[in-house]
Amino acid sequence: MQPRFNEKVVVVIGGNSGIGLASAQAFALEGARVVVTGRDTATLARAAASLGGRALAVRCDVSDLRAIEALMSEIREKLGRIDVLFVNAGVGAFIPIEAVTEADWDRLMAVNLKGVFFTVQKALPLMSSGGAIVLNSSIGWKKGIPTGSVYAASKAGVRALGRNFAAELVGRGIRVNVVSPGPVETPIIGRTAGLSPEMIPELRKQMRENTPMKRMGEPAEVARAALFLASDEASFITGVDLLVDGGAASF
Ligand SMILES: NC(=O)c1ccc[n+]([C@@H]2O[C@H](COP(=O)([O-])OP(=O)(O)OC[C@H]3O[C@@H](n4cnc5c(N)ncnc54)[C@H](OP(=O)(O)O)[C@@H]3O)[C@@H](O)[C@H]2O)c1
Repeated sequence: MQPRFNEKVVVVIGGNSGIGLASAQAFALEGARVVVTGRDTATLARAAASLGGRALAVRCDVSDLRAIEALMSEIREKLGRIDVLFVNAGVGAFIPIEAVTEADWDRLMAVNLKGVFFTVQKALPLMSSGGAIVLNSSIGWKKGIPTGSVYAASKAGVRALGRNFAAELVGRGIRVNVVSPGPVETPIIGRTAGLSPEMIPELRKQMRENTPMKRMGEPAEVARAALFLASDEASFITGVDLLVDGGAASF
């Protein structure tokens, strides 16, 4: 099979861990020049090493607009353009309604929603006709889960951004789609606000039981969906939300 991303400039926001890292590796295997971003310099360096000599790793906190601008300036200077943008960075929270603080709300929205909007806004000058944007939401936006309200609201916002970006950018030849994972085995589970370490084994058990396929997904399974939406195979697809969830949101 021909590599689908030969010499394409692919930017994976939150590309140093979990789904983003698996996606960056898959894009690189298919010939892309990959840029990975994140906050943690150690995992960024490891990600870049795993992607071979051509990858660019840039530290960028997506809740900081100036950091996003600096990222885009560096990409413009070093690579000149963006062909594919996978806006994947996100943080989780399982917090009961009464316990949610204003700081919890602001942190989730700053990364999961504001970060997505402004990353796309600041990347657009580098994108042209034929470009593709994929946003990472979650099946959380479709389901009611106790303690999931703030996370779900942020991810519902991401889904709405995907549809509206798609409508606004279709005339410019840029496709925008959303991928919504169900439970996937990544480091996010160990760093989700509101979860103590002793709650995690029970949460994993519940996630498996509540998924018709009776297992959690692998990061590479979400990566394959993101690559499909970003590729020319999806040339007539824009504005959709592709669930990668073992059936969890459907039955
Ligand atoms: N795993 C699941 O079950 C699941 C289910 C549905 C949706 N999702 C979504 O999938 C996406 C990827 O999550 P994951 O499961 O792969 O978790 P992960 O391994 O924890 O990865 C999260 C990524 O987001 C980055 N990130 C977090 N806050 C950031 C910030 N302020 N600025 C820049 N980057 C930031 C992290 O970089 P640093 O490590 O450097 O902070 C990391 O690269 C998220 O949007 C998540 O909501 C995951």
